[in-house]
Amino acid sequence: AAQLLLWALVGYGLGSVPFGLVLARVMGLGNLREIGSGNIGATNVLRTGSKSAAALTLLFDAGKGAAAVLLARIFAGEDAAQLAGLAAFLGHCFPVWLGFRGGKGVATFLGIWLALAWPVGVACCATWAATAAATRISSASALMAAVSSLLWAPVLGHGAALVLAAVLAALVLWRHRANIDRLRAGTEPRIGRSS
Ligand code: G3P
Repeated sequence: AAQLLLWALVGYGLGSVPFGLVLARVMGLGNLREIGSGNIGATNVLRTGSKSAAALTLLFDAGKGAAAVLLARIFAGEDAAQLAGLAAFLGHCFPVWLGFRGGKGVATFLGIWLALAWPVGVACCATWAATAAATRISSASALMAAVSSLLWAPVLGHGAALVLAAVLAALVLWRHRANIDRLRAGTEPRIGRSS
């Protein structure tokens, strides 16, 4: 139990690093909180106009989720890997350093799945990309990817991760409440547009 707690803490710590916020500041792109949706994720970094900063944010936010899973798996096994992944997701969404006001967890979600069960991760990325191609809306793509994980996990032989999938999908939906309202109102912006 002590070992699981340790990996939960390591996962949370990794997940709580707000790479988007840091990169935007370091690269002189301004304060993400005052740009677009105010979110700390890659989608909002793209609204600064910097594709490279957005790509780096996506890479690092996914990478921290993957790193949490892989480190825990190497040192403590599969249960610790799942727990560390969940903790990294929670760290990204509710970082203590930002008064628990973090991101929406999409990149981290994808990184967690790529590390935990790569076919599920690839299928979720493909679902994101297909929805983005059809709609050009990042949040809609995220919601489809999250919900689809509940299908991909059992279909691709990772039914053992279904509880984790359900928890992560529910959290992604919860973090996108404001986006869901905008989608219903037809006011959600397309990828790369401001506000
Ligand atoms: O990954 C977050 C994305 O789904 C929505 O971000 O900034 O459009 O609220 P944003």
